[in-house]
Amino acid sequence: MNINLLTFDTIDSTNTEALKQARLGAEEGLCIVARQQTAGRGRHGRTWVSERDAGLYFSIVLRPKIETRYLTLITLMTGVAVCDTLGKFGVSADIKWVNDLHVDGRKICGILAETTDTAKGLAVIVGIGINIKSSNFPPEIAESATSIQDVTPSVLIGGKNPEPVCPPKPMEIANLLVKDVYKFYDTLQSENGPEKVIDEWRKRSSYFSGKLVRVVAGEAVIEGITDGLEPTGALRVRRDDGSVAIVQAGDVEQLRETTAH
Ligand code: BTN
Repeated sequence: MNINLLTFDTIDSTNTEALKQARLGAEEGLCIVARQQTAGRGRHGRTWVSERDAGLYFSIVLRPKIETRYLTLITLMTGVAVCDTLGKFGVSADIKWVNDLHVDGRKICGILAETTDTAKGLAVIVGIGINIKSSNFPPEIAESATSIQDVTPSVLIGGKNPEPVCPPKPMEIANLLVKDVYKFYDTLQSENGPEKVIDEWRKRSSYFSGKLVRVVAGEAVIEGITDGLEPTGALRVRRDDGSVAIVQAGDVEQLRETTAH
């Protein structure tokens, strides 16, 4: 895959632009990065707050050669990649099934994967939003979201004259992120790739097993203890009566801090 980074000052949504480029025939590996988005979007039609230089707003065009049933694993492999990239900036994040990265229970990154048919076959657009600063968070997300700046030290400790530490610039993050996405996308498409991606996800997510959760999946509400992932990445939730629900899509909420057994 050849990485090609296209940068914009202002854009409606990097995902919208990447979808457009994919339909025009863009090669796999095209990345769109913008300093701000005027119509950044999240899952379920939600808005993604995209203040200028306050976050990384990034989308990549992929043209995966994997079985359709494994396409959901693209979101999981992206979560793994973002987790590793954040680690390089001193941020230790947890992956919440299926597409959020959290630090101390607050969201620091969201992932939005969208598909489109093109003349070259199916393209998957993976959009990644990482909060770098939280100074301009609107009140409705102030309690539930966090940023790199919030979770890393603001001064260098030690020494006689501690220096303030600036949060990373969006492009610094983008340059490392493309490498991590590339690496785990390669893993996904390698022999036994789906299993390997699930194993990498397991190592980085406290949601993999033993967590008491409530899942809202359309009209259905499922409560139980997480019990691993299906080979396709669907979440297994074991109810009190021993039955297991296989969740393909939905919003997961942790019910208690303590890990269940
Ligand atoms: C979510 O958590 O609901 C997913 C949020 C995804 C936000 C990113 S920001 C870059 C890309 N462009 C968009 O419009 N959305 C994604």
